[in-house]
Amino acid sequence: HLRTQGLIHRYRDLLPEMPDEAITTIGEGATPLIEAPALSERIGARLFLKFEGLNPTASFKDRGMTVAMSRARAMGMRACVCASTGNTAASAAAYAARAKMECFVMVPVGKIALGKAVQVLAHGARIVQIEGNFDAALRLSKKAVEARDDLALVNSVNPDRIQGQKTAAFEVCEALGAAPDYLALPVGNAGNITAYWKGFTEWRDAGHVASTPTVLGFQAAGAAPLVAGHDIENPETVASAIRIGAPASKAGAMTAVEESDGAIEAVTDGEILEAQSLLASTEGVFCEPASAAGVAGLLKLAREGRAPSGTVVSVLTGHGLKDPDVILNRTKLPDPVEATFEAVSRVMEERIETS
Ligand code: F0G
Repeated sequence: HLRTQGLIHRYRDLLPEMPDEAITTIGEGATPLIEAPALSERIGARLFLKFEGLNPTASFKDRGMTVAMSRARAMGMRACVCASTGNTAASAAAYAARAKMECFVMVPVGKIALGKAVQVLAHGARIVQIEGNFDAALRLSKKAVEARDDLALVNSVNPDRIQGQKTAAFEVCEALGAAPDYLALPVGNAGNITAYWKGFTEWRDAGHVASTPTVLGFQAAGAAPLVAGHDIENPETVASAIRIGAPASKAGAMTAVEESDGAIEAVTDGEILEAQSLLASTEGVFCEPASAAGVAGLLKLAREGRAPSGTVVSVLTGHGLKDPDVILNRTKLPDPVEATFEAVSRVMEERIETS
């Protein structure tokens, strides 16, 4: 696919109706499906990475935001609001800028990754730092929308978001020429797992492929309400994007798991960071911590002798550059060296000899 058109133009007949003049696109979608040979060997299946970090604002949220913002514009909305752990905020800010709409993003204070905050500031949205967590921010955003009829909610509880995000499943099937056997992805508010399942079933029902994948969702152990079976009041995880204790699309997640004979399991922060590191150092693909939860889960299943077989797709939901602090917390730039050939060759020889 050439990225001269956004996903609305490519999949228009499978998306909600909207007039041409309302369409707000920044060339989202058509992200690569990257084969992962080193991790495939560890897992014992053929693994592909759907790298959603290559969307315009560097996360999968753009797929949903192009549809949500276009529809909001078509309905004559003047402003939009969302609660966010960071990526929805960055995406809403960019699409609102393009749609010439006012944008308010409610985020848990001190809990969103640096790159995401910078994006919101760059696009000129109003950032409202809530002294509470994501779940409180979502409650407040819903209330704000009830109070004004020119204000659109652009969280994934808005069905237009799910409609846009389902197109990732279409692309996976198109790239493979069939549905994968398994899909592994991180789960936070549970909108994306809901969207993928909708996409895979629609694509099968349209007759393009014969089957749908088994869906494996992974939550961070400190923020795993769907594994615990009840909401978590104070969710905690290094994967700030999925630090959510009361997933709004819980029902959609459960449908995906039940109908596909899949599962939702938890992975520890240690397992998430290890997977993020392996993706970067063995596959050359740098994603943010939350995005590595799917691969962390697959590696865990492999260690426990429960690894899936066949073709497996893991969704890398956001780019690693979103969260520089996570990397800088465990490694730093080495000390400078003298500007001499001797000094640089010493560095290079040490490194080559130890490799
Ligand atoms: N991965 C990343 C990088 C995310 O930003 C999110 C959610 C998820 C996975 C989980 O997706 O919520 O649909 O289950 N981020 C939201 C946000 C909550 O505000 O940016 P989900």
